[in-house]
Amino acid sequence: MSDNKLSTDSYKGVRDFYPEDMAIQRYIFQTWSKTAESFGFERYDASILEPSALYKAKGAENEEMVNEQTYTFIDRGDREVTLRPEMTPTVARMVAGQRHELTFPLRWYSIPNLFRYERPQRGRLREHWQLNCDMFGAEHAAADVEMIALAHKVLTDFGATPDMFEIKLNNRQVYSETLLHLAKSNDEEITNVQINAVIRHSDRIGKISPEEFTQGLVDIVGEKVASAIVDFIHNQGISDLPIPSRDKLISVAEGLSELGIKNVSLEPTLARGFDYYTGTIFEIFDTSDENNRALLGGGRYDNLTGMFGGEAIPGIGFGMGDVTMRDFLETHKLIPEYIRTTAPQVMVIPMETEQNLYAEGVAMKIRQAGHKVATDIGTRKVGKKIGSASDRGVQFVIVIGDEEMQNGNLTVKNLLTGEEQSGRIGKLMNFLDTK
Ligand code: HAM
Repeated sequence: MSDNKLSTDSYKGVRDFYPEDMAIQRYIFQTWSKTAESFGFERYDASILEPSALYKAKGAENEEMVNEQTYTFIDRGDREVTLRPEMTPTVARMVAGQRHELTFPLRWYSIPNLFRYERPQRGRLREHWQLNCDMFGAEHAAADVEMIALAHKVLTDFGATPDMFEIKLNNRQVYSETLLHLAKSNDEEITNVQINAVIRHSDRIGKISPEEFTQGLVDIVGEKVASAIVDFIHNQGISDLPIPSRDKLISVAEGLSELGIKNVSLEPTLARGFDYYTGTIFEIFDTSDENNRALLGGGRYDNLTGMFGGEAIPGIGFGMGDVTMRDFLETHKLIPEYIRTTAPQVMVIPMETEQNLYAEGVAMKIRQAGHKVATDIGTRKVGKKIGSASDRGVQFVIVIGDEEMQNGNLTVKNLLTGEEQSGRIGKLMNFLDTK
């Protein structure tokens, strides 16, 4: 045999889901679906492969994402293909494609896996799943309020309390208008390209040093405006500035308050990394220091569907990641213990290989009554088989030896209570049901 053994590690930045991980993943997805559907959201899906053009088109473009973070390749027919790094361009494409058949306002959700070539770290991997909820065709602030209320409800449906997380709220226009005002009051000009660059740069504020942050601003808008922006961030709230869009931001915050959602803070520099956002933007953070990555991010993007032609349909939505979600649930001890138990409820244990097939028959009958049943057809001693059934959280065991096979009189033991019952298989079903 060669010494060059193949590694059992998964590819860098992606995860294998062993049964316990899978059970937790399913629990997360089921809770996501249930909450989204309770708000009347309908589920959709698409392929992980998209033509690369979708992410390069004007309106959807995001330089960092396209140039540094996508998995892009040329297929055998010379087409440029990308593994989707996010779902928003896809859902915009699907909605635009059937705009004449669909009824608006439309509420759709999906749980896609997404691929980003990022440096793997806590809360960031190269493949993650994301609950995406999006509403199209509603311009009123009530839509913005509803989307944030939905995100809030997802977390409370996991058992989270509002002190465990914080909703950060801003509005893209408010930030753009603030930048315009700061430039103007310093007798400087600022172009749209510069505004977008500042917005993207602001998205990195907690991730780089204050010096790097300021230097980045200087590179984009020069010393004078950069120092006005830094001063604004540290010393000034928007309430002092003449910002026309401020009312929109305030009405969303007030709407949330009316629905009883109070763990909201206005964040004048909250930027979000995508160029397509046009209004309300929001992120949710864990209040525990252990998790500093956003649990969720989203916002309003009123022009995105316009890139497929025709009049744009306004959209608003968010993405909530499974990696940060699991970290959040583990940190706050919100994963119920029973979720981690992946063992069957009943284990039928033959004492010798001669009873294996008989055990399979018994398992079949119990299965018909709707229980999860497996047989232990390994070659270990019966005591060891019972021990590992117990360790795995199996509730009932039925040991089958020569005698049981001959007379059909079986004994089922409840491993949690120690109770036993003997009889023919039909009679034992009731015992299994009483757990
Ligand atoms: P995003 O902020 O890039 O937004 O991602 C949303 C959430 O997905 C993040 O807050 C985080 O929980 C998770 N996430 C993102 N990247 C990673 C990663 N590399 N590893 C693990 N988790 C990650 C969007 O993707 C927008 N398309 C969301 C949206 C939907 N906006 C409107 N509709």
